[in-house]
Amino acid sequence: FQPKVLAGKKLLITAGPTYEAIDPVRGITNRSSGKMGFAIARAAAEAGAEVTLVAGPVHLPTPIGVRRIDVHSAREMLDAVMPLAAAHQVFVATAAVADWRPAQTQAHKIKKNAAPGQAQPPQLELAENPDILATVAALPHPPMCVGFAAESQDLIQHAREKRQRKNVPLIVANLGPATFGQDDNAITLVDARGERELSRADKLTLARELVREIAQRLTLYTA
Ligand code: C5P
Repeated sequence: FQPKVLAGKKLLITAGPTYEAIDPVRGITNRSSGKMGFAIARAAAEAGAEVTLVAGPVHLPTPIGVRRIDVHSAREMLDAVMPLAAAHQVFVATAAVADWRPAQTQAHKIKKNAAPGQAQPPQLELAENPDILATVAALPHPPMCVGFAAESQDLIQHAREKRQRKNVPLIVANLGPATFGQDDNAITLVDARGERELSRADKLTLARELVREIAQRLTLYTA
């Protein structure tokens, strides 16, 4: 049984990867199972919050009591998030949003007509995707924003920089790629006061702990 520490609050969460189409059969994406974001959605709903989960392509069931909006690309994710963000008290960005997308998506499959080794591979031109977290944090009255940082090195340093660059009060740092697709995780909370490491646990346990942290901070944030 979870105490209803988020009763009456609305949480908006992004989860999973985004998928950026090259043509109808090919695309570029990020590695993310969506498990951490889905665990946070579940834990927040258990804690009494009204939860909206904007999910990229993942193979996970929707947690009980959670409203889910499925999207593919970063721009679709932004379009789903922006009309909702201001009406929420908390925005948790766990999604591994692709930083770039193909500058053009081809309407038809790019054909590989030449014999092997005979033709130049097509060149892929990339365009920058919107930063969803930074866009929400820049709203005139933003919800309390929580970002995630997955890095393969210098994790805490990058998390601190990310917190300042995106102007968000809390960043949750996890040492990627070791956590991708796994059921457990080790996370460090990085805020203005410093760092707090949570001991390694399964993602639902960590999500419940994070929800308690968010609830506590929310009382200060809205005071
Ligand atoms: O610096 P980086 O982009 O890796 O920061 C990761 C954090 O920003 C995560 O919370 C992620 O969900 C969010 N993000 C986003 N939109 C992007 C890129 C990252 O919301 N285009």
